[in-house]
Amino acid sequence: MARLTINGKSMEVTVDPSTPLLWAIREQVGLTGTKYGCGIAQCGACTIHLDGVATRSCVVPVAAVEGKQITTIEGLAANGVLSKVQQAWVDFEVPQCGYCQSGMIMAVTALLKEKPKPNDADIDAGITNICRCGTFQQVREAIHAAAKA
Ligand code: FES
Ligand code: FES
Repeated sequence: MARLTINGKSMEVTVDPSTPLLWAIREQVGLTGTKYGCGIAQCGACTIHLDGVATRSCVVPVAAVEGKQITTIEGLAANGVLSKVQQAWVDFEVPQCGYCQSGMIMAVTALLKEKPKPNDADIDAGITNICRCGTFQQVREAIHAAAKA
């Protein structure tokens, strides 16, 4: 049993403390926007925010996140209004299959908080998520647009 705070709501999940947060989010809480890609912190599909910091949830045990604020892709829009990053993703038609994109958006949102006007080198260094559809150019354009919004 663990008590988690996800998207501002406190809840109990019945899992072994060593369970990766990703699986608690998806299977116990039912928020399936956060995706499983590799399970070894390499692809970024499972990126969420832990106290505002982009974190790969496939390698973080539930026991390590009690008392922290967890934000998933479902928690980004406020009162039905998309975040500026989400809106840029729509405007630039970034997703192809879409599988990697919730993790990408979470990583980009954290990057823009840290560096509100990132240059291409900042983006290359900060966004290491993998997109098998090769949307990297659209991602870059959408990040620059979101930074200006
Ligand atoms: S599933 Fe977590 S980084 Fe790939
Ligand atoms: S949009 Fe298909 S993997 Fe990125």
